Amino acid sequence: MPQNNNNTIQSRLKILCNDINKHNIQYYNYDNPIISDYEYDVLFKELIDLEAKYPNLIRNDSPSQRVGSTPLKKFTSIKHKIPLLSLDNGMTEEDLVNFDKRIKKNLNVSSDIEYVLEPKLDGLAVELIYENGIFKTGSTRGDGFLGENITQNLKTINQIPLNINNTFKTIEIRGEVFINKSDFIKLNIKRLGENEQPFANPRNCAAGSLRQLDSSITSSRPLKIFCYAPGYLDGINFDSQQEFLKTIPSWGFPVNPLVEVGYGSDFIINYLQKIESIRNELNYEIDGIVCKVNKFNYQNILGNKSRSPRWAIAGKFKAQQVTTKVISIIASVGRTGAITPVAKLKPVKVGGVVVSNATLHNQDEINKKDVRVGDTILLQRAGDVIPEIVKVIKAKRPNETSKYILPKFCPVCNTIIDKPIDHAIFRCKNYHCAAQIKGRIIHFVSRNAMNIDGFGEKLINQLVDSNLINDISDIFNLNKNDLMNLERMGDKLADKLLNSIENSKNITLSKFIYALGIRNVGEHSSKNIINHFELNLNKLENATLDELERIPDVGKIMAQSIFDFFNDDDNKLLISRCISSGLNFENKFLSKNLKLNELNFVFTGTMTTLSRNEAKKIVEKNGGITSNNLSKKVNYLVTGKNSGSKLEKAKKLNISVISEEGFLKLIT
Ligand code: IVH
Repeated sequence: MPQNNNNTIQSRLKILCNDINKHNIQYYNYDNPIISDYEYDVLFKELIDLEAKYPNLIRNDSPSQRVGSTPLKKFTSIKHKIPLLSLDNGMTEEDLVNFDKRIKKNLNVSSDIEYVLEPKLDGLAVELIYENGIFKTGSTRGDGFLGENITQNLKTINQIPLNINNTFKTIEIRGEVFINKSDFIKLNIKRLGENEQPFANPRNCAAGSLRQLDSSITSSRPLKIFCYAPGYLDGINFDSQQEFLKTIPSWGFPVNPLVEVGYGSDFIINYLQKIESIRNELNYEIDGIVCKVNKFNYQNILGNKSRSPRWAIAGKFKAQQVTTKVISIIASVGRTGAITPVAKLKPVKVGGVVVSNATLHNQDEINKKDVRVGDTILLQRAGDVIPEIVKVIKAKRPNETSKYILPKFCPVCNTIIDKPIDHAIFRCKNYHCAAQIKGRIIHFVSRNAMNIDGFGEKLINQLVDSNLINDISDIFNLNKNDLMNLERMGDKLADKLLNSIENSKNITLSKFIYALGIRNVGEHSSKNIINHFELNLNKLENATLDELERIPDVGKIMAQSIFDFFNDDDNKLLISRCISSGLNFENKFLSKNLKLNELNFVFTGTMTTLSRNEAKKIVEKNGGITSNNLSKKVNYLVTGKNSGSKLEKAKKLNISVISEEGFLKLIT
């Protein structure tokens, strides 16, 4: 390639990366895009196309590098140049007043001290290191001295700039990664729908997402960051925390908009009260405020103790705990028959919302906490969201109470409850239990399944209770008369519902299979399974257990539940009734000659023309399957740049290794 041309490409790539990175900051950090999505896509496509042609010119700060890369075996560790200290806690207003007194005494000044006050975010502390303006490494706090190298995962957070457009030698920025409350709830709903354990609170969710060895999982979680402190700096200095916080947004770092600067202890206390009063309106979790001496020369004079600085303190909020009474304990029955004890409470306001239910999870949990009807309990919202019983206030227990034991019989259908000795989960095994029917229908109509608009829980209860629906296939036989007989049903609403049902009939097979609610089979697995059977439902229905187990990514337990499901006569009937009511499977990718039929791919290393996700989609569209890990079931290992240990393992397992180019040839 002539040098000239190469230079032109290089400078075009630089401009593209710069522009796209800037637009990302406008979009993700300021919520204020200055170009349309279309214009953005055009720029991005130009970048991807150029990078595909000139892979050796791909820049370190290219936004194409954000999608996640080869899963790691474990995190390497990174030594923090300056330890990430913890903070002393001020639990009362008096603690804060004393903090201010101490600072004045240690600095030997009588005038009011200038402080920077910030919300104390309840997430995970991270450190981002930039060398000559480029994001190089990022790590967790770890024990304060040694952190884990989570660079790939941090790169997936769009708010973190990859290039801060300055040439200072080293800039370390510290901040807190978190997940918004609303995103946390959405993610948990999705996980429940896929039979995955929900996260206990937003903090756990952020931590779990950030500490993934596979960064493509991290990239699917909407993590956010606020930056709040410098680490080691070489080439630039700041006079104060205020100056630091004012400067870094111009480099692309998000800073919490609630930061305030002022003087003296009254200012600290007022701020604490103000932030506490708006705490529940914020979409992210905070557990207090942080008060920092503003001037860095004062900070240096004050210095640090072994684990915390003398120049800062956390002002903690009073715990959001209240007491209330347990009115009753009921056993609720879920879609899969799982029995969950729920405490019905005397309604009480905690953290700004009225709570009248709290889950007791299972019998073990009840035994541990010994919650009884009539008890007065201490209640809090775990991670500010889910109501949780902290403990029973035993001193207030009335005389006549007894231990709570989950019933022997299902409270809905009266079938004997299955209580395996070694299992926390008790189940009603009656498939025709009304609670299970309702649960299955709720799942069947849900957004990621059949997506039948307007079918809420109330309507489903009415339909099941009035015997209009006994299983999912009955939905398709509903007519206007049926609906009009329901309480509070109008002409328009009935038409709308019938219309939604009709529209839902055009559906992909994989969504239909997911909608069936087969235990342990989530959205992704449904897709994999039906692709394996060439989008042929018949083949899936008649598959042997052995065949199912051979599907990549289908373990023994999932194979067994699929097998059991399709070998149940009731289910067979159910499916044929659904189909005969006019389901029209949009088998977009169905073709006799799917290029990658049955073939299982694993990708490793960084690819130059496609992102990992794009490549996976191409495989699926062509009837193939992708896995994250190598096993005997894998046919091809596709290697990008910097392929790691997978290469050797593939050779041992006799798996064909092909380059990215080879992969592209396979599909074109
Ligand atoms: S400054 C020594 N600022 O609190 C200075 N920390 O208990 C400590 N945190 O590990 C960092 N919000 O994870 C600072 N605005 C804020 C913060 C904050 C939350 C966390 C951080 C740190 C912990 C210390």
